[in-house]
Amino acid sequence: MLTTMTVTTPGRGPLRRLGGHVRRVADAVATPLLPQDYLDLIAPLHGSVLRGRIESVHPETRDAVTLVIRPGRGWVEHRPGQYIRIGVDVDGVRLWRAYSLTSPPATGATVSITVKAIADGVVSSHLVRRARPGMIVGLDPPTGDFTLPLRRPAKLLFITAGSGITPVMGMLRSHLDELDDVIHVHAAPRREDVIFGGELRALARAGRLELIEHHDDTDGLLSTERLSALVPDLREREAWACGPAGLLATLESFYDTAGIADRLHTERFRPTILATGAGGSVTFTRQGTTVQGPGDVPLLSVGEGAGVLMPSGCRMGICFGCVVPLAEGTVRDLRSGALTHAAPGDNVQIQTCISAAAGPCRIDL
Ligand SMILES: Cc1cc2nc3c(=O)[nH]c(=O)nc-3n(C[C@H](O)[C@H](O)[C@H](O)COP(=O)(O)OP(=O)(O)OC[C@H]3O[C@@H](n4cnc5c(N)ncnc54)[C@H](O)[C@@H]3O)c2cc1C
Ligand code: FES
Repeated sequence: MLTTMTVTTPGRGPLRRLGGHVRRVADAVATPLLPQDYLDLIAPLHGSVLRGRIESVHPETRDAVTLVIRPGRGWVEHRPGQYIRIGVDVDGVRLWRAYSLTSPPATGATVSITVKAIADGVVSSHLVRRARPGMIVGLDPPTGDFTLPLRRPAKLLFITAGSGITPVMGMLRSHLDELDDVIHVHAAPRREDVIFGGELRALARAGRLELIEHHDDTDGLLSTERLSALVPDLREREAWACGPAGLLATLESFYDTAGIADRLHTERFRPTILATGAGGSVTFTRQGTTVQGPGDVPLLSVGEGAGVLMPSGCRMGICFGCVVPLAEGTVRDLRSGALTHAAPGDNVQIQTCISAAAGPCRIDL
């Protein structure tokens, strides 16, 4: 006969009650902060949110540095070619930007990103000029699909320009041993501007890849005619490209016309703005601020320019970190021209990094 038995762990109920009591006392003592908040302050890498500590800073070129970061609790291993979002405090405001990981996944407890300062760039300039060992930054787990397939292509072509080298460097440092035939075309204004130039040239000297450097200042802008001349078997190669929007658009059109669009994989650092129109007044309802929103400027920049604390992430339409409710009005998707309309009470969600005002609109922020 089967006997049903209830097993009770001695003291479990009272212990749980006691634990809850201790936690309530600790919470009361810590008020208005919670004990977890103190832990976040004392041990930021073991707190409730993912953070990283900059361990070292390495200059790469006159305007680019590599930051070696120790991620804290919650980090997950990345795939080479992926990027992270990093949150940095600039003048008391936390700003988030995306940066590709340049270290291989198995380097242990640290990862690296390489940042190139752009003119007037708030976060990139801050990191290149001010980042120091010990600095704590916000982190998001790695993401992105600009990665190599598990079945490695027999013949591979990397096409990069400027800081677009970063995700590819992550792939080269991780996968080069598994690749038989790699041509890497890299464009930079001058030889001394080539990020990771020394390492790439050493790999080429060792016969690990064929490196073709294109220096815009002397060679002119990299065209598809020149690319085809430099890489005669280009059509046989699976290609990964990352660089300025103009170069990527030219490559996409070239591969498309050649009927081999599926051979080209691209990574963009900024959205391609294709559709603009008349703007309108933009009201941030909770802030009580109204400003003029030009038809070709993302609402994210409009809000930031007006001093509104805007949520953000990649700033190019891929991470959805900037989604906010459109309380009323019409906005235009700058990539496609598609209009989104909200009547009062609709609270339609929009991505502010790729949407511009298309008439008066009210944002619930
Ligand atoms: C998936 C992804 C991966 C990235 N990886 C890297 C990386 O590994 N290394 C790296 O240096 N950057 C990388 N970026 C770009 C990075 O996220 C920032 O956009 C860049 O550092 C500029 O930020 P900022 O705050 O300095 O400029 P902002 O203050 O935001 O912008 C200042 C001005 O520069 C323009 N601008 C913004 N971004 C760029 C850009 N990329 N190129 C030229 N002009 C720009 C803006 O339109 C504005 O006019 C990546 C972006 C994405 C989406
Ligand atoms: S900030 Fe990433 S989608 Fe807008």
